[in-house]
Amino acid sequence: MKIVVATRNRGKLREIVPLLADLGLDLCTIDELAPDAELREDGLTFEENALAKARQAARATGLPAIADDSGLEVDALAGAPGVLSARYAGSPADDARNNAKLMAALAAKPGASRAGRFRCVATFVDEARGIELVESGSCAGEILSAPRGAGGFGYDPLFLVPALGRTMAELSLAEKNGLSHRAAAFGALAAALRRLPVSG
Ligand code: IMP
Repeated sequence: MKIVVATRNRGKLREIVPLLADLGLDLCTIDELAPDAELREDGLTFEENALAKARQAARATGLPAIADDSGLEVDALAGAPGVLSARYAGSPADDARNNAKLMAALAAKPGASRAGRFRCVATFVDEARGIELVESGSCAGEILSAPRGAGGFGYDPLFLVPALGRTMAELSLAEKNGLSHRAAAFGALAAALRRLPVSG
């Protein structure tokens, strides 16, 4: 089955492709098929945004579409940056500025909890068959006061995985895909896709 992946985030794409490899799908990106398609995400929840992105990509290409919406929630910041994670420090999205803003926000709260979690909602939309699947995952950690590591993307250098004593940016792609919020969401999505009746 040919499927469009509705993301322009290369970091995400690098993670999503191996997470779905076992399904034997023919994955194409929205930039390959419909580079001008708009992927608006102005919803209030990860679910709304992940469904909106998959629906827009499905409509723009006529193919079934897969999308995710994800972000970081920090307890001491009342769940911020949350659904605004990509543009926490303003538009256009900029990982370095987002991380600087997060460090400053937590530095202003000495003694506050540094607990947080990444969340991901993964969606599949097949308009021809009238199917919409929504699955979610999360990964708990702690926000450091200074970045560590050069891998991954986004807030990975500030996100400590306590059980490993390493940040997400200090993990290999395979290690991150063994424990991440995205791995949990796409693992559940892959299982739901396997349960769908086979057609054409
Ligand atoms: P969106 O899902 O395109 O709205 O963007 C999600 C944003 O959340 C990214 O731009 C990152 O800032 C952050 N984010 C989501 N997942 C991860 C991750 O696995 N590592 C680091 N940051 C992430």
